[in-house]
Amino acid sequence: MELWTKLVSILAAGTMVLGGALEEAAPQHDANGTLFLVNRQYMVTDAYEPAELVEAQVPGQVRQMRPEAAAALEEMYAACKEETGATLISVSGYRSYTKQKNLFAAKLRRVNNKVEKAQEYVAPPGASEHHLGLAMDVGQLNKAALNEKFADTVGGIWVKENCWRFGFILRYGEEWESVTGYKYEPWHFRYVGKELAKEIHDANVPFETWLIDYRVRVLQNMLKGEETP
Ligand code: DAL
Ligand code: ZN
Repeated sequence: MELWTKLVSILAAGTMVLGGALEEAAPQHDANGTLFLVNRQYMVTDAYEPAELVEAQVPGQVRQMRPEAAAALEEMYAACKEETGATLISVSGYRSYTKQKNLFAAKLRRVNNKVEKAQEYVAPPGASEHHLGLAMDVGQLNKAALNEKFADTVGGIWVKENCWRFGFILRYGEEWESVTGYKYEPWHFRYVGKELAKEIHDANVPFETWLIDYRVRVLQNMLKGEETP
């Protein structure tokens, strides 16, 4: 191998190692990971699509999610039925950029083009977690969907307390608006994986806040040569 070819391959390997390490240290930037952060500061483009989507086998509509999230959702709905008798339904899972664009435009029209008002509950296109195939708006059959009443239903109370067992977190908690940018959405659950969901649930802080702390921990552990968490 010629010297320059060798040099290029050494550099490329180094970049890959560094890239991998950085990705681990900043899991919120890994588009295929379950900690990928999407909000109005970190948006996806109209080219973004999850690698794979499947239809969650649960009652309701718009049931597409990433396979691991769909499987966890099915498990969660079945457990809720078994433990409380309540039937949870799917209201809105995966949404494409175009779909969110239309939803946001419709919301804007309803609030006389007041952007801040529209953004209280609806993300602009590119800023919605629903693009990831990791979020689900949950309702209870014949009781409530997409409104605060869901918080007081048997299913709403149960899912808030138990979502972490299945890898989900409540994403837009009460009084987190200054961090998340959204009003309380007792119906919106985000899959983060079973490994960390309990920790995030117990921390009782917005995902954004938890991620800062987690990233510091990952970096500290990388420096010490240990694994996280
Ligand atoms: N309702 C959430 C914020 C969304 O539109 O993604
Ligand atoms: Zn939602």
